[in-house]
Amino acid sequence: MTESDIPELEIPEWTPALSMGNAVIDGEHRDFLGKLGHVADLIARGDRRQIKDAITAMAAVLKGHFETEERFFVSVAYPQATTHRVDHLTLMNLVIEIEGVVDDSEDFSTPRLALAHFTQSVIDHLTEADMAYKPYLAQLERLEAPVVV
Ligand SMILES: [Fe+2]
Ligand SMILES: [Fe+2]
Repeated sequence: MTESDIPELEIPEWTPALSMGNAVIDGEHRDFLGKLGHVADLIARGDRRQIKDAITAMAAVLKGHFETEERFFVSVAYPQATTHRVDHLTLMNLVIEIEGVVDDSEDFSTPRLALAHFTQSVIDHLTEADMAYKPYLAQLERLEAPVVV
């Protein structure tokens, strides 16, 4: 496989279709997708140092976001919390793998493929696992429980 065989990476931007109906969660999702898009842009340009810094920044946002969600799950005794946490762990491990291939690969075809795989997994997570807890978020707001921070 050569560089030119690998399709362009398309990173979706946040849209209202992804809205969870909560400003904190939506803001974190939007911030994360922006950071992911930045990583993709840098991989296309091929500056290893900048790519690694951008992955670190993206990972920090993602970790913080997962902690937000997991605190919320505890506060509402979300029944799918364990499964959801495993999904988060898997996604964080994919980020570590991307960092590894950025270090190890000669060109940037492998990081691009790894990022494409991660992006698909993240989108699946946002549209399936996260959407599954949306009704609980709505319930929390109706009850006027503490805002998720
Ligand atoms: Fe999320
Ligand atoms: Fe999540």
